[in-house]
Amino acid sequence: MPISPVLERQTTYPFVRLAEAARQVEARGVQVIDFGTGDPREATDPLIREALVAGLRDRMGYPAAAGLPELREAIAAWAGRRFGVELDPGRQVVPTLGSKEAIFSLAQVAVDLERGKDTVAYTEPGYPVYERGALFAHARPLALPLREEHGFLPDLDTIDEETWSRLAVFWVNYPNNPTGAVAPLAFYETLAARAREHGFVLASDEAYTELWFDEPPASALQLEDLSEVLVFNTLSKRSSMTGYRSGFVAGDPKLIAALKAFRPTVGTAPQEFVQRASVVAWGDEAHVERTRALYGRKRARFLDLFARKGVRVAGSAATMYLWLEVPTGEGSEAFAERLLAHGVLVAPGSYLGATGEGYFRLALVPPEEECDRAVTILEEVL
Ligand SMILES: Cc1ncc(COP(=O)(O)O)c(C=O)c1O
Repeated sequence: MPISPVLERQTTYPFVRLAEAARQVEARGVQVIDFGTGDPREATDPLIREALVAGLRDRMGYPAAAGLPELREAIAAWAGRRFGVELDPGRQVVPTLGSKEAIFSLAQVAVDLERGKDTVAYTEPGYPVYERGALFAHARPLALPLREEHGFLPDLDTIDEETWSRLAVFWVNYPNNPTGAVAPLAFYETLAARAREHGFVLASDEAYTELWFDEPPASALQLEDLSEVLVFNTLSKRSSMTGYRSGFVAGDPKLIAALKAFRPTVGTAPQEFVQRASVVAWGDEAHVERTRALYGRKRARFLDLFARKGVRVAGSAATMYLWLEVPTGEGSEAFAERLLAHGVLVAPGSYLGATGEGYFRLALVPPEEECDRAVTILEEVL
């Protein structure tokens, strides 16, 4: 059977390896507390669950790829309240099935090998889907390192003119997974000017904008000129709705029109009952405030522990993640294995990209009592 060589070349998603290692530790009778992946363990707000159930009909036909008008309006209204922007729900918003599928397939829509727009840039360490989307579209992936001394922002001065001109998509992700760094609006302004100059898509993955602690992070939606700009957001983290699969893409009307032309072929419109639940989720901030407070409490416990233990916190201004320096000078994978043997699962920085070596990531997802237990364990182990 013929299989895509791109697929065959793929290595195992590193977190699958992590899950396997955890299973082995559990088989030895050690209970594992999982700070590995960013899948919230909190209950989804009852208001949202009820809206999902109420959205069930006797017959559910195919959902339209453009999404329900009510949902597009709810998203535009949320963006208006949160970022002070006015989006046209008809031309500037498209609901997505979570943001992962939309992130993966953007390269299919934007890469033009014949015209030499063949490069997809993204930052590392980071979410692996930008690169995988590029590879499956036969584009040239360009990983830009995120270094602490540069505020975990990519150094745009390292990109030469030829590369700028070959760019089809430039992915950025702030607040950043895994470093927790945030980007100022000026950073988006600089990149958006480049995008207009060289004709590429500035794709801003903003999955974590709502998980903040000091001040709400900026969005590329706040740019005065949204030409060549697409913003991806999701209910997964904001509303603890990973299993619902609901997000959106918003921005430049001509790019949104291209997505609307592409998406019916792929069949990625969210189910209508999920869209109805999403209208409620985007319309309510009270549950998001409770979620932020919860992450804030867990975060404070670990920040306190790490301060006492002399573990240096890097970045970590926002998101559900803490990005920490491996304190012992050992490799990040060996360090994570050592913690795992004591029942605390963290992600080695190297699993998220080569530049992540020397760090580890803690996803603050376990319930508070499990976090307390982990703090007690780490008190001994660190
Ligand atoms: C940076 C980043 N972007 C996007 C996503 C995708 O989230 P979803 O597809 O659930 O919306 C994730 C999930 O972990 C993520 O970490």
